[in-house]
Amino acid sequence: MSENFDELIARAKSLSGLTPEHEACLKEIAPILIPHLPKITDAFYVRLITTPVTSKFLVKYEEKLDYLKDTHLAWMKSLFTLSIDAEFAKRMERVGDMHVEIQLPLDFMTGAMSLINNGLIKIIMTEMGDDKEKTLKALQAVNAVTALTLVIMQQSYQLFD
Ligand code: HEM
Repeated sequence: MSENFDELIARAKSLSGLTPEHEACLKEIAPILIPHLPKITDAFYVRLITTPVTSKFLVKYEEKLDYLKDTHLAWMKSLFTLSIDAEFAKRMERVGDMHVEIQLPLDFMTGAMSLINNGLIKIIMTEMGDDKEKTLKALQAVNAVTALTLVIMQQSYQLFD
């Protein structure tokens, strides 16, 4: 568990390249993207449940699946609505901790982020693809923020001190 979340968020921003302009862009595109996010959550869980290597981590949670979907959706919304600060880092690290507790391999988390990114890319292209400049900014902001969350969630795995 990281003790200094101010340092952690600064490091994660530096590593992922998330800039203040990206942060402003995420807030700007929030109203366009948020109504479409449930489609990503649904596709995410269909994929995890129908893929044998990932489904075995969800067997025990069959009855909690709707709850997990709700928290997943809330997690995605938070990328577009919350300030990306020390409190945000704390929330993300807690999510990382939960995956360590269920002994989810780290590469499953990294791989699964690609499903989320692909879903977001599709929505951005569909909803604002006519405006190339806006689309590029949105894609870069989304890429940076999802990378930032991975940087933080990986902390829980304590690969190095
Ligand atoms: C980047 C990818 C992922 C994100 C963003 C994510 C998001 C989350 C969030 C927000 C929670 C917290 C739920 C709560 O507050 O109670 C959670 C828990 C959980 N996730 Fe993930 N998840 C990811 C990948 C995965 C994968 C690949 C699996 C399984 C193959 C998985 C299985 C679980 C399980 C079983 C829990 C419940 C843990 C518990 O209640 O103890 N997650 N996930």
